[in-house]
Amino acid sequence: MDPSDFGKPPTHLAIIMDGNGRWAQQRMLKRIVGHQRGAETVKMVVEQASLLGIKYLTLFAFSSENWSRPVLEVRALMTLLKKYIRQETARMMRKNIRYNVIGNRSELPDDVNETLDGAIRETSGNTGMVLTLALSYGGRQEISMAAKRLTGDVLNGRLALDDITMEVFGSYLDTGGLPDPDFLIRTSGEMRISNFLLWQLAYTELYFTDINWPDFTINEFHKALNDFQSRERRFGKTSDQLNKRNSP
Ligand code: FPP
Repeated sequence: MDPSDFGKPPTHLAIIMDGNGRWAQQRMLKRIVGHQRGAETVKMVVEQASLLGIKYLTLFAFSSENWSRPVLEVRALMTLLKKYIRQETARMMRKNIRYNVIGNRSELPDDVNETLDGAIRETSGNTGMVLTLALSYGGRQEISMAAKRLTGDVLNGRLALDDITMEVFGSYLDTGGLPDPDFLIRTSGEMRISNFLLWQLAYTELYFTDINWPDFTINEFHKALNDFQSRERRFGKTSDQLNKRNSP
């Protein structure tokens, strides 16, 4: 699809990439093969999102809860992640994409953190799309850590109690500086948020598809983005109020 054929894309797209394991199991393959195929879908989505003018793409790549998976799967996922970042950083440079990470990085292995630091540093001057990887991420954990940091600032006098607003609280989250997502896609038929961006998704349009992540093709991606075009985002207002604001 030519970007000019396309309506206004979401400014910030968030994706829960689900169904790698089921995709593999349905084919009698090891779960990690599903993750490897999932990494190919990540490449396509990153490339398309940047081409279509999406400014922020946030991918749920590893949740706080995923640590309880079998050790071998966790290890294989960490290796895959490292390999992906190493292989893709040159392309990120060519496409002017900047890496960002949210989540509890202290739980990640040192070699993964080193690879991430290198990629973040190398792409830090890029001015195109911001690609945020949520790693060892949980929304409740993020909110409680933000509350802890904010309370620390109140106690040490850097922040006055009366100055706490939603915007100020939001700036203490890992996503401080990023706009809230406009659109969330979740693949594999599960209709849950699963502890992803709990604060930030307050007004986000949600899209669920039965397709497993490795089977999420470019056409499926465009279908989802087309669906976003048809949504009316009212933010609590009425349609009439919105139409008045939009009329000349
Ligand atoms: C959910 O599928 C997916 C994950 C837990 C990992 C996502 C990882 C990738 C897409 C590949 C690597 C990522 C990057 C950014 C290169 P699942 O295993 O929960 O599937 P299931 O619900 O069918 O078991």
